[in-house]
Amino acid sequence: MESEEFLDEVLSRVKSFLASSQTESQIRPSESHASLARTSDLNLPLEGRGLEAALDDIESVLRNSVRTTAPGFMNPLWGGLSIASIAGELVTAATNTAMYTYEIAPIATLIESSILKRIAELADFGTSQGTLTTGGSNGNLLGMLCARQAKFPMSSHAGFDGTNMVAFVSEESHYSFSIASNVVGIGHSNLIKVRCNEHGQMRPDALEEEIEYALAEGRIPFAVLATSGTTVKGSFDPLRAIAAVAHKYELWMHVDAAWGGSCLFSSQHRSLMDGIELADSFCWDAHKMMGIPLICSAFIVKDADVLKAVCSNGNTAHYLYIESGEDLDLGRYSLQCGRRNDALKLWLAWREIGDAGWASMLERFMELAHYLEERVKNHASLELMSERMWTNVCFRYVGDSSTDERNRINAELRQRLIQDGRFMVSRSTIDESIILRSVIANRSVTEESLDAFLDCVVSLGKDIERGLPQQ
Ligand SMILES: Cc1ncc(COP(=O)(O)O)c(C=O)c1O
Repeated sequence: MESEEFLDEVLSRVKSFLASSQTESQIRPSESHASLARTSDLNLPLEGRGLEAALDDIESVLRNSVRTTAPGFMNPLWGGLSIASIAGELVTAATNTAMYTYEIAPIATLIESSILKRIAELADFGTSQGTLTTGGSNGNLLGMLCARQAKFPMSSHAGFDGTNMVAFVSEESHYSFSIASNVVGIGHSNLIKVRCNEHGQMRPDALEEEIEYALAEGRIPFAVLATSGTTVKGSFDPLRAIAAVAHKYELWMHVDAAWGGSCLFSSQHRSLMDGIELADSFCWDAHKMMGIPLICSAFIVKDADVLKAVCSNGNTAHYLYIESGEDLDLGRYSLQCGRRNDALKLWLAWREIGDAGWASMLERFMELAHYLEERVKNHASLELMSERMWTNVCFRYVGDSSTDERNRINAELRQRLIQDGRFMVSRSTIDESIILRSVIANRSVTEESLDAFLDCVVSLGKDIERGLPQQ
């Protein structure tokens, strides 16, 4: 088979997969792990099987994949796809290059630079620098590394003793900060979890209390890590008030806007991140709400020199960087060497839809989340488990069950929902209660699909209740 014919065939299969994802009711293959592992041919052969056989493999992969563009997919903080960005993925693969130097990635470098500049503008960040990273987790790591660098400018060169250093994060923050605290060298126990209010937002007064406490103990605070859009509740920390505390103690302020950063596009919802311009750095995942294929994530920092120092290689990469590229080579601002052109897919999608298109898309997501929230609130068998600020809707089935039975019912319900295969939402815990978290970040979701989802939840909940032993 010729490569052109092969590519046409691949595209035709991908097109059918995407089209059928809008109509197929099952979004998750029903085969068990044991059966899939037994029946899949995963062997790497001694003799090549040729391109035609690759088509069979592709069919099998598509058949056994979760349909993440389907309306029933509301599980992680991403879903749905921008078609323009799929083209970006394809062209990125076809033009296969690495983002370290302008020399090897001329147009890609200009595209990434223009995207970073625009994202910084959205946050009123003034002059800034940034990089596309491998995700929000990596963006948070970079934020902490920059904070460490700003406090101890020699640390990137001579290393440092992190045992007495402390950073402050909301108790609702993403787990990547724990991993980052290990990598940065302070360890998990030096990441202080600051108490939140009843809406899941970091309390600025509690932050100040923790800083004072740490100082009194002779510890060295170096970073305040706020969140815009927490993973479970979708809460936004009050950035302006937090910045006032961070500035008072001269601490670096990083904002994890991986999930909520998209609000910056909407004049209606931008106020959720009021005060972002006062931070030193932030990260944002375009692969979450914008329907850009994973991975597409930005890290932006006001002081370019700090990021450059964090990513400095001590001039050992003489085989890569030469003087003429000094101002252009993006590799000087990245922890990676080889790095994909993740900018292209975002750039194509952005040009297709425009700022206004992004704004209406996320305003529609908010409308749908409001619809779901209201339906939950008004349903006698369901209970909303946290006030909604973003598109996370956290709830549980209560039916006629007693309080003691609810965790068991909702754990079982989530399990049966996954087996049922029509809808996917995640399971989480709020104050010891097991809950279902559905998020709207998928262009295929509609009021009708949300109605069908709740019908399914209630029907499964009733079945489980009926099966419970009588008290
Ligand atoms: C609030 C928040 N920050 C950071 C991350 C990590 O992002 P990524 O998966 O891109 O590493 C997540 C992931 O869901 C998140 O919810």
